[in-house]
Amino acid sequence: MPNFVGRDIISMDEFSREDIMYVMRVAELMEKNKYPELLKGLIVSTLFFEPSTRTRLSFETAALQIGAQVISTTGAQFSSLYKGETLQDTAAVIGGYADVLVMRHPEKGSARALADGTDKPIINGGDGPGDHPTQTLLDLYTILSAKGTLDNLKIGFVGDLKYGRTVHSLATALRFFNPELYFIAPKALAMPDEYKERLDNAAVKYHESENLDDFIGEVDILYVTRVQKERFTDVEEYNKYKLMYIIGNDTLNKARKDVSIMHPLPRVGEIKTEIDNSPNAIYFQEAWNGVPVRKALLALVTGRFKLEDQTQSGKLVKKNVLLTIGSEDNKKKMLPDIQQLATVGYNLYATAKTHKFLKEMGVENTQLHKISDTGKQPNIKDFLEQKRFDIIINIPSGLGSEEATDGSLMRRMAIEQSIPLITDPQVAHFLIAALKKEA
Ligand code: CP
Repeated sequence: MPNFVGRDIISMDEFSREDIMYVMRVAELMEKNKYPELLKGLIVSTLFFEPSTRTRLSFETAALQIGAQVISTTGAQFSSLYKGETLQDTAAVIGGYADVLVMRHPEKGSARALADGTDKPIINGGDGPGDHPTQTLLDLYTILSAKGTLDNLKIGFVGDLKYGRTVHSLATALRFFNPELYFIAPKALAMPDEYKERLDNAAVKYHESENLDDFIGEVDILYVTRVQKERFTDVEEYNKYKLMYIIGNDTLNKARKDVSIMHPLPRVGEIKTEIDNSPNAIYFQEAWNGVPVRKALLALVTGRFKLEDQTQSGKLVKKNVLLTIGSEDNKKKMLPDIQQLATVGYNLYATAKTHKFLKEMGVENTQLHKISDTGKQPNIKDFLEQKRFDIIINIPSGLGSEEATDGSLMRRMAIEQSIPLITDPQVAHFLIAALKKEA
């Protein structure tokens, strides 16, 4: 299990796949449960020496929701950095006041410099054109929620890929998930070689073009970015590129029907408001996801929350349950139990026919594709590999050809992953009654 206690969150370069999935699980719990006293008695300091709306306010919201107190400074001119104080000295002093320091600063490498001055955990809220790891984690959380998986996705990045730190961090993190990446930018704002080399080293496939039309029909996700005015020394140069790509209804008409449009925000004209209400537009949800993800990070680095404690304490947290129930008769018989699971807040996932039946009966659940539906997302195989199921209730209808292949493969993987597997309706009934009691 990853250990985040006391850890600095500086760059996605320092995250493994296991780390990322761990944060995703904790964020999921933070979204579904209230932990109003988790950080009771702790102080979070937000040091923002460059403009921010979402990052600062979602960190502060996160800290307050889980019981911490917040001290903050905004703008270098209102801090002693303006008088020439070093970041190390700032860290040494604030580290004596607060338990976690979150900083945004205009210079690449500044978060590392801050971390050198204190033993308290430092969280990088964006260091100039460098990294923005917490944005990346909330971007990954948004992708996971929208697509049900992080694996094997085709992701386009459009806009300012040279200065856009969110792009650098996200592309770096995606190297673990076998993506195919599409970089769409004018040559002057192309993805820097440094980040492409990282992708080459991880054998990630990527393509480049100045023309969005070359790739718009390919991608599952289009990640749009603002041209970063504040990084340009020549305003004429900025004006040349600022609205080179504008995403609107005409873009959606050329895209895949299920394309998701993301943007770290703020936008300054590169996405038309006409698509805001489209189900493809997920950038506001992306911004709101900053709260559960940042709650997760604060809870983890302070050591106040560990996934392993949640399961060991015997108090069952809201978990992911896969339902795959063979016969119509069993589906009907088990409906009251499944309704109870949904009522007490379990996340239900189901295979196609079980999904359809439950949907018709008004039970919220997410459809997953069978392991044998290779390439179809979201897929049970990815969920199993990512250890995202806590319980599998699989009631086979018999040993037909499908059961002998797909069902048995799933059951074998479940056992290999030590996931509780229930194959009998009566046992499932008693288990659900126990889970309901705990909830
Ligand atoms: N996405 C993001 O970092 O937004 P802010 O600049 O408003 O924090």
